[in-house]
Amino acid sequence: MYRTHYSSQITEELNGQKVKVAGWVYEVKDLGGIKFLWIRDREGIVQVTAPKKKVGEEIFKLIPKLNSEDVVAVEGIVNFTPKAKLGFEIIPEKLEVLSKAETPLPLDPTGKVKAELDTRLDNRFIDLRKPEVMAIFKIRSNVFKAVREFFYNEGFIEIHTPKIIATATEGGTELFPMKYFEKDAFLAQSPQLYKQIMMASGLDKVFEIAPIFRAEEHNTTRHLNEAWSIDAEIAFIENENEVMQVLERLVAYAINYVREHNEKELKILNFELEEPKLPFRRITYTEALEILKDLGKEIPWGEDIDTEGEKLLGRYVKENYDEDLYFIYQYPSEAKPFYIMKYDDNPKISRAFDLEYRGVEITSGGQREHRYEVLKQQIAEKGLNVESFEFYLKAFRYGMPPHGGFGLGAERLIKQMLNLSNIREVILFPRDRKRLTP
Ligand code: ATP
Ligand code: AMO
Repeated sequence: MYRTHYSSQITEELNGQKVKVAGWVYEVKDLGGIKFLWIRDREGIVQVTAPKKKVGEEIFKLIPKLNSEDVVAVEGIVNFTPKAKLGFEIIPEKLEVLSKAETPLPLDPTGKVKAELDTRLDNRFIDLRKPEVMAIFKIRSNVFKAVREFFYNEGFIEIHTPKIIATATEGGTELFPMKYFEKDAFLAQSPQLYKQIMMASGLDKVFEIAPIFRAEEHNTTRHLNEAWSIDAEIAFIENENEVMQVLERLVAYAINYVREHNEKELKILNFELEEPKLPFRRITYTEALEILKDLGKEIPWGEDIDTEGEKLLGRYVKENYDEDLYFIYQYPSEAKPFYIMKYDDNPKISRAFDLEYRGVEITSGGQREHRYEVLKQQIAEKGLNVESFEFYLKAFRYGMPPHGGFGLGAERLIKQMLNLSNIREVILFPRDRKRLTP
């Protein structure tokens, strides 16, 4: 390997020892008799100092010829000295240029020259060379790690369901159609039907982390056409509250994991991530409408709470309770999909909930209707073709336990966790209305 240590791993015990560092040329300075080279790697920056008297002529001459962002590898001796800004330097014995960078660069990796989001996304590999951008993706990695860890700790089994599917689940407007040989198919907008079918298998508690595809026509700061969904489904629940309890513990676990393991990245982002208070506040849909009415926004009972309403509610909860996360539950049945169970004693209300984070929905979920006849009726009520759901309905005829689950949007979670303004900041290569490359 060209590297024995990352910049952050060079500690005082290594003083006087030989190390190999490698990365991108951050800066070069030529003071005549002494040349400096700063190299940036994933973890930070390292200074290479080349005094004429101490290094070979070849290295001495090569340093000033380097361009910003050339890829280099240096082998040299660690020297801890108060003269170096970082507390130490490396006196090079070997300097190798592994790859040259063309000039001018399409994007300034130091961030001094500000760039539009589109330019940044077109040059994502350079964009990530900025510590504050890389920090987001280090945090994203840990969010996925924490989520998996949580599910395994809680006895969930990881499943993988098809992404090429034959039927709509979340309403037909958001589907990407495709040709599947001689048949019509779609890209999956959710693993909904399959994770439910698995409730009839005896796996009991399952989760899946996979892309979902949604043909959202509009450009917003919280919708992607390809997003990552963290889905869970749990059998033998008695009510939707049992699902909400799993979800709130999962989200708190992920947030606390980031607080604990990404201190450095949160500092780079200059962001203080607060520890969430458990349990999360629970607000019924009807209460939410009352709060909004008091705030001057009237939404007729039965309609979805729109983006503005969500924001107002988020601000209300923050100001009154100093909380960022809360559930809205007992949604009107007409506003939710066919698979959600209605209250037997009041069928206008369903066992569906959303989890909101700083005024943005990050999760939908609920208890499902597991009774075959009722489910069939609910599919028909929504104006859907019952026959096209036969492969799904079949699973409800041979022993289906009561169950419920949720879909948590990973990008929504991370965007809201870090209070970022655009969902595109948290996915490497966003797919939106205009972006299909890179
Ligand atoms: P879900 O798919 O669970 O419903 P969502 O956050 O997309 O998640 P929606 O219920 O679709 O929530 O939308 C909530 C509100 O967001 C809508 O009432 C609408 O105001 C706004 N909205 C949703 N989709 C779009 C979109 N593609 N473009 C603009 N606004 C949208
Ligand atoms: P829903 O349609 O609400 O529910 O989606 C669940 C969560 O997925 C995320 N999400 C998105 N993120 C980015 N861009 C999008 N276009 C997008 N669409 C959805 C959101 C949302 O809360 N089957 C149900 C879940 C369930 O009941 O288990 C479902 O798909 O964070």
